[in-house]
Formats: sequence, structure tokens, C-alpha cells
Amino acid sequence: MSIQRRVEEIIRGAGDILLEKLASGFTIEHKGRVDLVTDADRAAEAYITKELQRDFPAFSILGEEEGLSGRPDAEYLWLIDPLDGTTNFAHGFPYFSVSIALTHHREVVFGAVYDPSTKTLFTAGKDQGAFMNGEPISVSEITNLENSLLVTGFPYDVSTTKDDNIAEYAKALKATQGVLRTGSAALDLCNVACGRLDAYWEKGIDAYDIAAGSLIVTEAGGRLSAVDGGPFDLYDHQVLASNGLIHDELVQLIGTSA
Ligand code: IPD
Repeated sequence: MSIQRRVEEIIRGAGDILLEKLASGFTIEHKGRVDLVTDADRAAEAYITKELQRDFPAFSILGEEEGLSGRPDAEYLWLIDPLDGTTNFAHGFPYFSVSIALTHHREVVFGAVYDPSTKTLFTAGKDQGAFMNGEPISVSEITNLENSLLVTGFPYDVSTTKDDNIAEYAKALKATQGVLRTGSAALDLCNVACGRLDAYWEKGIDAYDIAAGSLIVTEAGGRLSAVDGGPFDLYDHQVLASNGLIHDELVQLIGTSA
């Protein structure tokens, strides 16, 4: 079986664990004032890690809850977010996802994001295109901010950090048809990739949240950068992803000091 098929099986299995926990009940712990983790996150990550370690023993794994397993200098590294959208999940709001990416020497070569609530699976392989439930997807054709619908996210330390994204959010809100805040960065990227949304940006985000989605966006024809328009770096805790056509206009609006 190909790596892709195996990951698709594993990510659906993790999604089933989340749905089962949502239905049967789960416990919530606080990592910070508003940064939550549930036993559903932990169960899904334990399942994904066990399956990947058994089938790909030479690859290392970086998971949101358990950190690094395996050698830090491994050629191949899995980046896992077992439950992206934990706050939504904890409130019973059915908008969350599982994200699994494979990197080779720090470059994402395969990504999968699964929305268990709608049973929607997004996948992309490097130079292989991007897909939603097996059908090719591409970014939108919106050419200006005025006609665009965007999405963003806010960091868990929004109440204390100076870099709280509020000024950028306000500017974008006034220049577009709307700016959503959905609470799952991985799905936000996929929604840009399939053209439902025209751009997404966030600061204070982690590599496991955006690794899979970042490849899905570029394979769907979109563009990635830092929020100020500089080069995208998976480990730089920020991303601006767009359909490409509104990218420069958005950088001009929000990429300079707020
Ligand atoms: C969070 C979500 C959210 C984003 C946060 C992330 P988590 O991931 O992706 O949309 O705004 O920055 O931390 O904690 O639910 O895995």
C-alpha cells in the first residue's frame, strides 16, 4: 500500500476517534488560560503515532501533544495535529480537523487534512496536485480584496501579546467582504485551496497546524509567504496563504506595521 493510502486510512481512523469522543464525552485540561487539550486530542495522537511508528519506523514524529518521537535529524519527519480546532471541539462546535504532513529535509512532501464532521478529506503530494475527496481542487479567481472573503486566527496569548492581530483584522474587515475566524488553521488553508475563501493569515501558529495545509494550498495553485511578504518558513510561526491574485494587495494592507 502507498504511503498516501496508508495515511488516508490512519487520518480517517483518528477522525472516528474524535467523533466517538464527541458523542460519548471527553475531559478538558487547560494548557493555558484559553489553550485547551482534551483526552480526545491525546487518544487521536496516540493512535496516529502508534500506526505511523509501526509502518514507518525510520521516520520521526512531531506531534502537538507528545512532542518529538525519534531522531531529531531524521530524513523524514511526520508533523501531526491530532485535533486542530480544540476550542471548537471542546464546545461541541463541529468544525475541527486532523492534520498529518510528511516532511523530507524540512520540505513538506505530502499533506492530509480530514474534517470528520463532514467526512471531507483534503490531500496533496509535492508536484502531484491537491484534492478534496479525490477530486482536483484549485484556488479562487478573485482578483481584488474588495471582492474577497478572508479568514484569520488569533494566538492563544491574544489577551497579553502586543502582536494580537487586532489592527490587521480591523483593516482587512473594512477592505473586504468579510474576515472569518473559524478556529481550525488546517481547514482554513484547505478552504483557501479549494477556492471557498481567498486568503488566510495568522501569526503565532505552529508548524504542525499548517504543514499539511500549506502544501495543499500551493498544490492547488495558491501562494504562501510570511505576513510581511517575505519567504514562507514552516517553522516561523506565521503564514499568509492566498489564491495568489490578491496576495500583494493583502501584504500591503496588513504586512506593514499595524
Ligand atoms: C489552533 C487552531 C486555530 C488557530 C490557533 C491554533 P489547536 O490549533 O488552528 O484556528 O487560530 O492558533 O493553535 O490548538 O486547536 O490545535
